[in-house]
Amino acid sequence: MSNQYADRLVVVRDVDSLRRRVRDWRRDGLSVALVPTMGALHKGHMKLMDQAQKMADRVVATIFVNPKQFGPNEDFSSYPRREADDFELLSAAGVHLLFAPEATAMYPAGFATTVSVAGISDVLDGKHRAGHFDGVATVVSKLLLQALPDIAIFGEKDYQQLVLIRRFVEDLNIPVDIIGAPTVREHDGLAMSSRNAYLSAEERVKAPALYVAIAGAAKDIAAGGEIEATVEAARQKLITAGFDSVDYVEARHADTLAPLTNTSNHGRILAAARLGRTRLIDNVPVPIQQGA
Ligand code: PAF
Repeated sequence: MSNQYADRLVVVRDVDSLRRRVRDWRRDGLSVALVPTMGALHKGHMKLMDQAQKMADRVVATIFVNPKQFGPNEDFSSYPRREADDFELLSAAGVHLLFAPEATAMYPAGFATTVSVAGISDVLDGKHRAGHFDGVATVVSKLLLQALPDIAIFGEKDYQQLVLIRRFVEDLNIPVDIIGAPTVREHDGLAMSSRNAYLSAEERVKAPALYVAIAGAAKDIAAGGEIEATVEAARQKLITAGFDSVDYVEARHADTLAPLTNTSNHGRILAAARLGRTRLIDNVPVPIQQGA
């Protein structure tokens, strides 16, 4: 199907058309960046597109709300879908190709394969969202192998997802460079996310406390604060700020997600907490301390 929204953005819905275009570009010596998304695009996604344009000659965005990464009680059916708006944004940004497959193109009858990454999938979000990372690893493997780009760009907002993708790309020898892009934040620090649209006005006022709590914890740990006591204090701050529950606040090794025991390694504070029906996640780096 070709695109009726603009001259520049071409929309394809089947794997053969995607693969043919990417293969032709690469044969002509052009580098290709892939930016996988689930649509409902916001400024954070558009930063990924900007970065892709700086790093490659051609940019391919994907939009696919992947049913396999949502649990039975999660928001698959209510996840925002705004294809026409997304097409306009991608087109205005100069993205060259959009791959927007139907579920039947990604998971035809008889589909039976799951990509599962041991360890990384079982901690943090994996503990609270059974099967989520198998769904992510399966769909991202497919997208990378369908498009075969030179690079693929993912936001650090979903930091555990980024670590997981780096792991299976290395383990499966998928020939692509995975690039992490910094989280884009609202003026008050809230990380941009399609799910922020679920927040009520009152919840939206409380939401930045998530970033404030983890950024404060990262600063305290970098200044020599005891790691476990500092993350426990951050959990308490979230409850005090009006979050209904805290799934986790944890300090982890930035590359492996193993528990962080000292600051001579790059660390990351990762957190997930709920405001009403909205589950927010966020993470920040803990700077390495020389001589720690
Ligand atoms: O981060 C997302 O939007 C999704 O998890 C991804 C990587 C597009 C896979 O469905």
